[in-house]
Amino acid sequence: MQKVPTMVMLTITCTMMLLMLPEAYATRWTVGGNMGWNTNFNYTTWAKGKHFYKDDWLFFVYDRNQMNVLEVNKTDYESCNSDHALHNWTTGAGRDVVPLNVTRNYYFISGKGFCYGGMKIAVHVENLPPPPKAAPIKSGTTTTLTVSSMSQIVLLPVVFAIGTAWDAFIHIW
Ligand SMILES: *[C@@H]1O[C@H](CO)[C@@H](O)[C@H](O)[C@H]1NC(C)=O
Ligand SMILES: *[C@@H]1O[C@H](CO)[C@@H](O)[C@H](O)[C@H]1NC(C)=O
Ligand SMILES: *[C@@H]1O[C@H](CO)[C@@H](O)[C@H](O)[C@H]1NC(C)=O
Ligand SMILES: *[C@@H]1O[C@H](CO)[C@@H](O)[C@H](O)[C@H]1NC(C)=O
Repeated sequence: MQKVPTMVMLTITCTMMLLMLPEAYATRWTVGGNMGWNTNFNYTTWAKGKHFYKDDWLFFVYDRNQMNVLEVNKTDYESCNSDHALHNWTTGAGRDVVPLNVTRNYYFISGKGFCYGGMKIAVHVENLPPPPKAAPIKSGTTTTLTVSSMSQIVLLPVVFAIGTAWDAFIHIW
């Protein structure tokens, strides 16, 4: 009788954590959204208001026959100088993934003259903030809908138990 809610709670908690972890951990940003890495686009405007967290990725999608992806320092970003790139992220496929694995400023430009046309982006990478305490309760509520065969009387304590378990989890880690 007592084993069942414990199992349900464990299952729900594990599922919830599996669902939350990739979301909480990393975002793969397609640079420029639908426009991709292209001319006639302002990447400063695109990056504005976005939060780039450590271990996110930048995904550059572009015409491999024309553009490329070069990481440069601030000076060379500002002057569009591709003569001494810090890292050449160009693989040749026109689809390059850059891991933002250090909390710092990153600067990317396209060589071959495209930087002057605006193909340049600066991103500030921050540490991931701790998960908000409200999130597990929201997930618990969503789970309630999927396990609709169970009575509210059983589920309500389970939802609260998840919250408590999560709090304990937060405090342990
Ligand atoms: C960027 O690199 C260039 C050439 O190596 C150097 O002259 C310049 O001072 C560097 N700028 C920064 C901000 O480090
Ligand atoms: C960057 O690397 C690609 C693939 O290896 C290469 O074709 C290209 O010439 C390199 N570009 C620069 C500017 O080093
Ligand atoms: C970040 O990623 C780059 C490229 O994959 C790698 O060379 C570097 O060692 C990584 N740095 C850290 C701190 O993980
Ligand atoms: C992008 O827009 C900003 C203002 O939001 C402006 O300061 C900047 O010069 C523009 N960049 C380019 C490459 O046009």
